[in-house]
Amino acid sequence: MRNYEVICDIEREKRMSAMGFDCEMPTPKEPVSPWWTGAVVYQIWPRSFCDNDGDGVGDLRGIIGRLDYLNDGRGGGLGVDAIWLSPIFLSPLKDFGYDVSGYTEIDPTFGTLDTFDELVGEAHARGMRVVLDWVPNHTSDQHPWFLESRADVTNVKRDWYTWSDPREPGIPPNNWVSAFPSAGPAWTFDDHTGQYYLHSYTSSQPDLNWDNPKVRDAMLDTMRFWFDRDVDGLRIDVVHRLGKDPTLGDNDASGVEAEPTGPGRHDADWPTVHDRIRAIRSVADEYEDRLLVGEVYILDQARMVEYVLGGDQLHLAHNFVFLNQPWSAHSFGKVMSEFEAVASPDIEPAWCLNNHDHRRIRSRLDEDGDGYTRARAAALLLLGLRGTIFLYQGEELGLPDTDVAASLIVDVDGRDGARTPIPWEPPSVAGPGAGFTSGTPWLPVGATAETINVASLTDKDGSILELYRKLVRIRSATPALRGGSFHLIGTAADVFAYERREHCSAVTIAVNFSTVPQPMVRPLKNATKYRLLATSVSGEPAPLAALRPLEARWIQRISTTCS
Ligand code: GLC
Repeated sequence: MRNYEVICDIEREKRMSAMGFDCEMPTPKEPVSPWWTGAVVYQIWPRSFCDNDGDGVGDLRGIIGRLDYLNDGRGGGLGVDAIWLSPIFLSPLKDFGYDVSGYTEIDPTFGTLDTFDELVGEAHARGMRVVLDWVPNHTSDQHPWFLESRADVTNVKRDWYTWSDPREPGIPPNNWVSAFPSAGPAWTFDDHTGQYYLHSYTSSQPDLNWDNPKVRDAMLDTMRFWFDRDVDGLRIDVVHRLGKDPTLGDNDASGVEAEPTGPGRHDADWPTVHDRIRAIRSVADEYEDRLLVGEVYILDQARMVEYVLGGDQLHLAHNFVFLNQPWSAHSFGKVMSEFEAVASPDIEPAWCLNNHDHRRIRSRLDEDGDGYTRARAAALLLLGLRGTIFLYQGEELGLPDTDVAASLIVDVDGRDGARTPIPWEPPSVAGPGAGFTSGTPWLPVGATAETINVASLTDKDGSILELYRKLVRIRSATPALRGGSFHLIGTAADVFAYERREHCSAVTIAVNFSTVPQPMVRPLKNATKYRLLATSVSGEPAPLAALRPLEARWIQRISTTCS
């Protein structure tokens, strides 16, 4: 066998000679409860996943046709536990679905409610859950509620949004700015009624006024609509923005970053947010096993953890401090020890290194051309962690960002490069749409599609896709990885390492962040037998005591006695 990524039962003394065999894939996992414990969730950006009708934009039927790639329910595919669909609701697409004009309608670009129901049924049949993106902080300016609200100052829906008089003629009510630098102030003047309305993002995304209980109740009803259709969870967009200072006080001078990094903000993370989340949670609790995962974009882990405390708020909060770390063992060690200090072990963390708002990790870490190797190591770092893991479509292919020509950029914040279509087949075989579409793709397919595509990487020894597949499956079948406790191992200068433990079994995850070999952290002792579960680099295995440049490794320690 040429592939040493998964090697079983390597006893130290005979490790080199014994490395000539690959291991059986682990046996399927037992169901766990709740279902998101230790689960792997795959984020789909529907416009770019797969286009069935040839209009150049991905759609629900395209997703249905590719579900087996994610998990065929019989041990094939990536093996993920759930899919999260970025917005598919009715939208004028000024922010690609994060501007909703109908919360209980599917945008015709993607299909119909019937097709959606079919998608849920097909995902469930394969053992995958379905999570939808729910955008409660703001609507589209085309939403009927806003059209009414802006009609005149006495309209019954006027206070469904935040309207305010100018501070002085021509000056917005306060110093709040949009999270999109290109949008400038968070206020737009409405000539017709002579007041400003608040929008934390673009001016076509007016913020709902959650101080108004009618708004809350209307939004809670939209949750029920989807839960009644068997949706398994909601990813809640910018949930920290549901609480704002009702007196519209200025942000402190420090509060000028796009999203909060700590206290001092009046436009987000206001104490009222927690009761709002409790109301949202109580709706989820009307149903069985429904996940609420919040986009709590607060770059302060202690404040972020406040959103998952008490058993009556969010189940999970995405950790953006982790995602935004530079590539260094020290940084990751610091984030993890900080997290440990602020979060009790009963808090389930939610980790990701990619999503639709950020440059892809391979490109982010590619300054010296080693981005691909780092992306592979990052996969072991991520998928070894305790908690729920979120992958973003294309991450498993090692996709780099696509260079999108200025004339083709459509996103208000320039995030197009991470949102381009998934290449399913080489263009030389499938045409310029690379199996994504038979039409003209809405954003260009990456120039790397000839080699980086699903067909070429599937079943290819050593490919990053095969690596992800193994990691996801090993994780799900290994109790120490799926649900075991987390323990940081003191990090050497360039090595970040931690251990996951469950009863007598433990898995060490070690990542060499440097481009030179490093000693494996903590000499492997106190065990009778080790199993190398996975390494991020292919080729001849290195001795167990050393990590190759930019190598990450999962090693299971098997004790014969349980102490
Ligand atoms: C969230 C989404 C992002 C969107 C913004 C406004 O941050 O992830 O894509 O632009 O909210 O809704």
